Amino acid sequence: MLRVEGLHAWYGEATVLRDVALTVAPGEVVTLVGRNGAGKSTLLRAVMGLHPGQRGTVSFDGRDLGSLPAHRRARLGLGWVPDDRGAYASLTVTENLTLPPAVGPAPWSLDKVYETFPVLHERRNSAATQLSGGEQQMLALARVLRMGARLLLCDEPTEGLAPLLVTRVADILRQVRDQGTAVLLVEQNLRFATGVADRHHLLAEGRVVETLRNDEVREREGELLTYLGI
Ligand SMILES: Nc1ncnc2c1ncn2[C@@H]1O[C@H](COP(=O)(O)OP(=O)(O)O)[C@@H](O)[C@H]1O
Ligand SMILES: [Mg+2]
Repeated sequence: MLRVEGLHAWYGEATVLRDVALTVAPGEVVTLVGRNGAGKSTLLRAVMGLHPGQRGTVSFDGRDLGSLPAHRRARLGLGWVPDDRGAYASLTVTENLTLPPAVGPAPWSLDKVYETFPVLHERRNSAATQLSGGEQQMLALARVLRMGARLLLCDEPTEGLAPLLVTRVADILRQVRDQGTAVLLVEQNLRFATGVADRHHLLAEGRVVETLRNDEVREREGELLTYLGI
């Protein structure tokens, strides 16, 4: 579904990504792990068409996206879930879910969103600012699904969440994955990562230096946590 080849990205003179290649298949969750500053968020933004300094190939469903802007990529089915969670603070949950137009190929009905995220139904009339971190993360995921994304680009969805909510986010990602949605996930919580994903790319100095299966991540958990500085 997603194929990235020879991707380079930079800020001014500073190179951040060097010759990155990866693929994500429908119904597959692939993670990016790496130290702070390794370029994980830049990679997600480059795939979404939000990073101006980039070259290389990003293709989706076999189509080279070239320099297509982010809103056109959203129409094809790419959905970015940013690390700041991107809600409209003064709007209610329902408004956050219904105001962005459902542009992508697989939009969810509001009923389906509320069935999948009962906590958002309970909080539907609350302003986004009044939500807990976990609820805001649910809202960020729900928004891109409602808009019709088939590939989610999720940037550290469990950051700052209590363990119970981490479990809840994992349940949702598995449910979404089992319905055929693909996910490229930036994640530092290795237990969470192995619970939802199939493959893990280790990003260092702008390159994918290793690709690990779940059993390899579990075997090397201690070493990886030390490396990541967690
Ligand atoms: N707006 C920016 N201007 C200049 N450099 C940036 C900017 N944003 C990020 N960087 C640099 O790019 C590198 C990669 O950042 P980022 O993709 O956010 O890493 P990660 O998400 O892995 O922590 C870091 O060295 C960071 O300092
Ligand atoms: Mg980041």
